[in-house]
Amino acid sequence: MRLAMVGTGYVGLVSGTCFAEFGVDVVCVDTNVEKIEALKKGKIPIFEPGLEDLVAKQVARGRLSFTTNLAEAVKGADAVFIAVGTPPRKEDGHADLSFVYAAAKQVAEAAEGYTVVVTKSTVPVGTARAVEKIIAENKKSDSVIDVASNPEFLREGAAVNDFMRPDRIVIGTDSERAVEVLREVYRPLYLNETPMVITTPETSEIIKYAANAFLATKITFINEIANLCEASGANVQHVAKAIGLDGRIGSKFLHAGPGYGGSCFPKDTLALTQTGQVMKAPQTIVEAVVKANHNRQQQMAERVIAACGGDVKGMKIGVLGVAFKPNTDDVRDAPSLVIIPELQKEGAEIFAHDPEAQEEAEKHLKNVHWVKDPYAVAKDADAVVILTEWNEYRALDMKRLSDSMGVKRLIDMRNIYKPAVMRELGFHYVSIGRPEVTPDSEVKIRKVS
Ligand code: UGA
Repeated sequence: MRLAMVGTGYVGLVSGTCFAEFGVDVVCVDTNVEKIEALKKGKIPIFEPGLEDLVAKQVARGRLSFTTNLAEAVKGADAVFIAVGTPPRKEDGHADLSFVYAAAKQVAEAAEGYTVVVTKSTVPVGTARAVEKIIAENKKSDSVIDVASNPEFLREGAAVNDFMRPDRIVIGTDSERAVEVLREVYRPLYLNETPMVITTPETSEIIKYAANAFLATKITFINEIANLCEASGANVQHVAKAIGLDGRIGSKFLHAGPGYGGSCFPKDTLALTQTGQVMKAPQTIVEAVVKANHNRQQQMAERVIAACGGDVKGMKIGVLGVAFKPNTDDVRDAPSLVIIPELQKEGAEIFAHDPEAQEEAEKHLKNVHWVKDPYAVAKDADAVVILTEWNEYRALDMKRLSDSMGVKRLIDMRNIYKPAVMRELGFHYVSIGRPEVTPDSEVKIRKVS
């Protein structure tokens, strides 16, 4: 079994490497020469726990290789996965499919014998049919090509594990033969009895968007409930726990925070609303989610300003975490990219730390003082804001942090600390969906401890 993986972004690189781990020969293709040269030397362009070791292992075994030559990689492959980017179009937020279509054309021109062409990129409903058409127009006369949709559900920061132990595999195709090839590709998971949903391409494409949009909705829902908790003195963590214990609701993705970010939810929710409009099936719930999440990131900046007494001019504010979530260096659509510039606009001086994402963040954030040690953001600070729940921040010596601060003010947007403990340490502590506490707020504390 031989595969070609077109596109070595997050999904392509993780999937290609994990398929090699399954025992399949995989050639990863990308047009970016520098990236491919780096990968050949074992340099991984992203921070993803476990990936570098796995790439090195599979390259050493001779099962994984990298090239810029798409035709070479595709020739003789049993299946070709298209995992190129589908960024939002600037004018309307619709997924830009030009990279997918360009790849499909090149694959069709190069494929020989029988090949399954699989769209793994997140693509709007109808894309597999369009790919089918492009392939029919460009393929060699003696080659036979079937098209399938096979969306990916891995999370950044947990990508290898998610790929190796998925909740389900979705395959959308009209071809029995293509299903057989993909069953073989996923053989170890198939034998593990991982549920497989075999369906049509259209259904498969919608499954991917529906999954991401549902999760984004869940987060946005609990964020709005958190606002209500703040307004009424209730505790959102208790609400989330209690509703999550209902099996119909489930406990996951109910952590209130500064709004979702990353390379998927913002892009995919927007694309789904666009598809809904075009297909005259408006996705009004998701439209509301997109709007609410956009507003939330802005509101979080206002919250910091309010916690600082309504004016941050000349204040020194320390920021812990700029990545959109832990275990990644990704800052795409991260709350930090909205909150930090807003605080700077209001005259605050920002000192920031992130274990992995500083380099990426520096491309977007200007005039930030970057420090290598999380405690350094607190030195003489008027406030410290926790934006990402890195494990490293969960285990901070808070006494040491507070002792070096100018004003003991902590804004914890990931609810990683306990209000009662923070009060005892002398903090004015603001978190999400839980009552604000100050050292002299005895009564409020008893409510939330
Ligand atoms: C998401 C999905 O979880 C994956 O299943 C999917 O494959 C992927 O998108 C994709 O389409 O490629 P990812 O963007 O890596 O994965 O990150 P998540 O762990 O889902 O987190 C997304 C955002 O939601 C983060 O900003 C996170 O902080 C936020 N979040 C998550 C919350 O605010 N609360 C929660 O309870 C959970």
